[in-house]
Amino acid sequence: MLSLHILLLLSACAKLVIGGTVERQGSSCVVHASEDGSDDAPAILEAFDACGSDGQILLQDPLYHIESVMDTTGLNNVIVDITGTMLWGTNITYWRANGLELGYLNMTTAWRFGGDNVTFNGHGVGTFDGNGQLWYDFTKGVSNLPGRPISLMVTNTTSSHFDGIRFVQSQFWTMAIKNSVDVLFENIWINSTSNSSQPARNTDGVDVFFSDRITMRNWTVTGGDDNISMKANSTNILIQDCTFHGGLGVAIGSIGQYEGVFERIENVTAERITALKSRYAGYIKTWTGEVNGVPPNGGGGGLGYAKNITFRDFVLENVTDSVARITQCTSFNGVTVDCNTSLFQISDITWGPMTGSISSGTLAAMQCSRAAPCPGIEFVDFEEIETSGKRTISCSNIVDPEGFQCS
Ligand SMILES: *[C@@H]1O[C@H](CO)[C@@H](O)[C@H](O)[C@H]1NC(C)=O
Ligand SMILES: *[C@@H]1O[C@H](CO)[C@@H](O)[C@H](O)[C@H]1NC(C)=O
Ligand SMILES: *[C@@H]1O[C@H](CO)[C@@H](O)[C@H](O)[C@H]1NC(C)=O
Ligand SMILES: *[C@@H]1O[C@H](CO)[C@@H](O)[C@H](O)[C@H]1NC(C)=O
Ligand SMILES: *[C@@H]1O[C@H](CO)[C@@H](O)[C@H](O)[C@H]1NC(C)=O
Ligand SMILES: *[C@@H]1O[C@H](CO)[C@@H](O)[C@H](O)[C@H]1NC(C)=O
Ligand SMILES: *[C@@H]1O[C@H](CO)[C@@H](O)[C@H](O)[C@H]1NC(C)=O
Ligand SMILES: *[C@@H]1O[C@H](CO)[C@@H](O)[C@H](O)[C@H]1NC(C)=O
Ligand SMILES: *[C@@H]1O[C@H](CO)[C@@H](O)[C@H](O)[C@H]1NC(C)=O
Ligand SMILES: *[C@@H]1O[C@H](CO)[C@@H](O)[C@H](O)[C@H]1NC(C)=O
Ligand SMILES: *[C@@H]1O[C@H](CO)[C@@H](O)[C@H](O)[C@H]1NC(C)=O
Ligand SMILES: *[C@@H]1O[C@H](CO)[C@@H](O)[C@H](O)[C@H]1NC(C)=O
Repeated sequence: MLSLHILLLLSACAKLVIGGTVERQGSSCVVHASEDGSDDAPAILEAFDACGSDGQILLQDPLYHIESVMDTTGLNNVIVDITGTMLWGTNITYWRANGLELGYLNMTTAWRFGGDNVTFNGHGVGTFDGNGQLWYDFTKGVSNLPGRPISLMVTNTTSSHFDGIRFVQSQFWTMAIKNSVDVLFENIWINSTSNSSQPARNTDGVDVFFSDRITMRNWTVTGGDDNISMKANSTNILIQDCTFHGGLGVAIGSIGQYEGVFERIENVTAERITALKSRYAGYIKTWTGEVNGVPPNGGGGGLGYAKNITFRDFVLENVTDSVARITQCTSFNGVTVDCNTSLFQISDITWGPMTGSISSGTLAAMQCSRAAPCPGIEFVDFEEIETSGKRTISCSNIVDPEGFQCS
């Protein structure tokens, strides 16, 4: 009796030291944050272990500290409910050494998440705080610094729903979606803004790979570099009712980075989008046919196609560069390349109808590779877009433009 008492006391003490605790309520696991600000990740992992199948995981304390990587895959019929904030730790050495692999572009993540029939609900308040300022200052603008972790990787996920989640100061890309089918992400709010002279570089909103039937609805993305981007083998993607503050707009690519590898992007619709001071409305970017360096910052020579992509019903406000942009000239920084070499085939792309304003005189700048000219490029109702005066549409290797004439 006495020894049991001591044991309980000891375990209570131990729990206080090691972090949060898990309270079981039937098939629900309630995670309580530690009282001393120590790592709550082990308790969260324990909750996913115990309740990650036919259960619920409830994160309802105001603040959880995440000091170690989390891998929660193979979930099934589960509800994850968060109303508090998860704050990622500041030990850059730890994160760079322990990130979980994305399995593409040599990138890593702090949380790998996946399952079937998962509902992840933040009720508009549940927040991921990546403590990103530390990373922006540490990175000093270097592109794709190795080991800088993606906040959340959603992988091998089917028939699932992410709703009402906020992300602030993401460490790197906010989200990557990979090997997933039939997943809806809605009411997502992202703001990664640097408060120092160092930029919040590479804080993409989301990058999608090897996924089919993904919907992103009602996202608000803020930050100098943010964007939503479809990359290798993204098919049947719907983006609706989103607002971008700054960033590059809706992006297709970069793609064609891996020599000789076939990748495609097909059936993407982005509609009812508001772009405030973004660089572009919709833009498509491939590597050249030449190989210079290795991914993530170098590469080229990839094959495949991007087809049937529609950017419609956009409202533009002071878009800074152009409405429609295609470039097949991406290469390793600083290398002079031949922009006519890419064999990656772009076709059947529609921009418009769109309204609002751009602060430049370039409606469109479209550079397709001579080795793979672009057919089926169409503009619908560009008349209403106000420009700073000129209405330049520059083209290379556009075959039979529809609804516009090249300047
Ligand atoms: C994907 O998840 C399913 C169950 O949800 C599992 O059977 C399968 O092994 C997982 N695949 C990978 C590559 O992790
Ligand atoms: C999906 O999970 C929910 C619980 O979150 C459950 O009520 C529902 O029956 C599951 N759907 C299927 C098709 O298994
Ligand atoms: C940071 O992480 C490294 C590597 O895991 C570890 O050796 C070091 O003790 C940690 N530093 C602090 C202050 O916890
Ligand atoms: C890939 O990542 C590892 C570890 O994060 C790093 O050591 C290596 O330099 C990276 N490779 C490239 C080509 O960036
Ligand atoms: C869209 O998401 C925002 C949070 O970013 C939320 O406040 C708003 O209610 C959502 N709109 C709709 C129509 O659900
Ligand atoms: C984004 O965050 C920055 C700094 O935290 C803040 O100044 C800015 O107002 C926020 N933007 C929006 C649209 O909320
Ligand atoms: C910028 O953010 C960091 C980390 O959140 C904070 O410590 C610092 O005080 C902030 N600086 C300014 C000028 O707001
Ligand atoms: C997203 O923005 C970042 C930062 O500007 C940039 O490095 C990245 O290439 C962009 N992604 C796409 C697909 O344009
Ligand atoms: C992309 O999808 C195509 C068509 O299914 C397939 O042939 C190709 O191997 C995939 N690419 C990669 C890199 O898996
Ligand atoms: C193009 O993609 C849209 C979905 O984004 C789909 O509704 C339409 O049928 C596709 N068109 C063709 C010709 O495949
Ligand atoms: C694109 O959409 C069309 C029309 O719905 C469909 O026939 C085709 O299979 C889709 N392509 C892919 C890769 O899913
Ligand atoms: C766009 O520019 C106009 C004129 O300079 C300005 O009045 C307006 O506030 C700007 N809008 C945004 C979203 O910056």
